[in-house]
Amino acid sequence: MPLFGKKEEAKVDFSCLPRHIAIIMDGNGRWAKGRGLPRTAGHAAGAETFRTIATYCRDIGIQYLTVYAFSTENWKRPAQEVSAIMGLLRKYLLEAVRDMEKEKVRFVFFGDLTPLPEELRQLCREVQSDSARFEGCQVNICVNYGGRDEIVRAAKAFAADCAAGKRKAEELTEEEFSLGLWSAGIPDPELVIRPGGEERTSNFLLWQSAYSEFYFTDVNWPDFGKEELRKALAAYQSRSRRFGGI
Ligand code: FPP
Repeated sequence: MPLFGKKEEAKVDFSCLPRHIAIIMDGNGRWAKGRGLPRTAGHAAGAETFRTIATYCRDIGIQYLTVYAFSTENWKRPAQEVSAIMGLLRKYLLEAVRDMEKEKVRFVFFGDLTPLPEELRQLCREVQSDSARFEGCQVNICVNYGGRDEIVRAAKAFAADCAAGKRKAEELTEEEFSLGLWSAGIPDPELVIRPGGEERTSNFLLWQSAYSEFYFTDVNWPDFGKEELRKALAAYQSRSRRFGGI
């Protein structure tokens, strides 16, 4: 049943939402620059937007939200910016621990956490294991994540199993290969959103987004509020998904 909100709101059918939404949280630096602020202020504002959007997704019944917080390429940024992003992640996760019983969101991390500071790594592990009991909404946070890296890791693990005689190359299927990815067991995102004006995937969920609908907007991530998400959902619902058929 279509639900029509206030006159100015995007029209979204809340009974027919995607199960999985993925977001490239882009435009933090430009948002800050436009206000004469340091880039790190943009990331801090972006972390607040993440909180708003994750809560909204949970409230409207989105089952999976995946966000790109830090890519395998983001290490090339100045050390001070990298450490500010890690600091924001730490702050967010400490608050997630504090509010866990109230928020009831399950957190999962995609990416190799090995290069992270030990304390942060431990916090990620703690948040993931302590929140595993919650059902309803799962938020996947991609940290030190790269789509190609993810595929190569899965290929290496499969090759090692073949070499050990546990599996046979000719028996590999797409479904089985998917089980070697960070996203094992999770449906592919029906919708990938990229704010910030760029129109590329930047190594995000390369395998999983094969049939995703993409939604791009010039709005920078810190300004991406609930209404922007509703616009993305309305755009998604207006498209016809054929998966290669007619
Ligand atoms: C891209 O914008 C954003 C990032 C690389 C970092 C995103 C991190 C956060 C929002 C904060 C921590 C995360 C969580 C989940 C609490 P950009 O810097 O590339 O922007 P620009 O293209 O305008 O320079």
